[in-house]
Amino acid sequence: MKTTSSVFNAYSRYYDLLYQDKDYVAETDYIQTLLVRHGITHGNLLEFGSGTGKHGCLLAGMGYRVHGIERSADMVSRSMSCEGFTCEQGDICTVQLHRSFDAVLSLFHVVSYQTRNDDVLAVFNRAAEHLTVGGLFVFDFWYSPAVYAQRPEVRVKRMTNENTSITRIAEPVVWQKENRVDVHYTIYAHDIVSGAIEVMEEIHPMRHFSLPEIDLLCQMTGFERIGAEEFLTGKPVGDPAIVN
Ligand SMILES: C[S@@+](CC[C@H](N)C(=O)[O-])C[C@H]1O[C@@H](n2cnc3c(N)ncnc32)[C@H](O)[C@@H]1O
Repeated sequence: MKTTSSVFNAYSRYYDLLYQDKDYVAETDYIQTLLVRHGITHGNLLEFGSGTGKHGCLLAGMGYRVHGIERSADMVSRSMSCEGFTCEQGDICTVQLHRSFDAVLSLFHVVSYQTRNDDVLAVFNRAAEHLTVGGLFVFDFWYSPAVYAQRPEVRVKRMTNENTSITRIAEPVVWQKENRVDVHYTIYAHDIVSGAIEVMEEIHPMRHFSLPEIDLLCQMTGFERIGAEEFLTGKPVGDPAIVN
């Protein structure tokens, strides 16, 4: 059977299997370091695009109370449940919780999923509205100089558990004038027990940003950018050479 669906619909069924090699523990340790560096050792965190709740539950285990907002109902239904972590379906462009948090987090390219100016501006505004005075907005994003230097290319990923073996082909289409890469995913899911093979397709449009764009977004929404560094390593943001 072949299905074509909207972003994080069919894909979410295999999300945790696809990313079982992703080191959520190391990532969450890194995020905690950033929070602690800015005096947030406990308290309430709002997570934009919380996915299946991996970071949220790990942060809850560190003593934070985390609430996630996730657009995909399917991802929400697959979300981990653990003490200290809650989540709800919602759009981070429009969410209004009427509560303040010590920090807003947005992890694993969630900001880059906002490809339209209006949407990314809305996300910054929603983050600002949900923060206490002096609160922190921590997010990662596709960085334009790195995208140009590394050049998106076709990638194949294979993951297996006891029930399913999946092969994901990622084919990027670069829209240079729009700072956007449409990643065309084809996923072949092989049910090891029944032998059935399901084929799914999804297109994930991803936007990349330069630091001046991020600074402009900050200025427009009342944020001050207090740092930018390489994810996980903490190295200064580089200026990768563009390969011709
Ligand atoms: C690559 S996943 C990351 C999920 C999770 N943060 C993680 O690290 O596993 C991107 C997530 O962002 C969510 N997302 C993208 N745009 C969104 C929006 N406007 N509102 C809420 N969630 C959104 C998607 O549904 C998806 O679950």
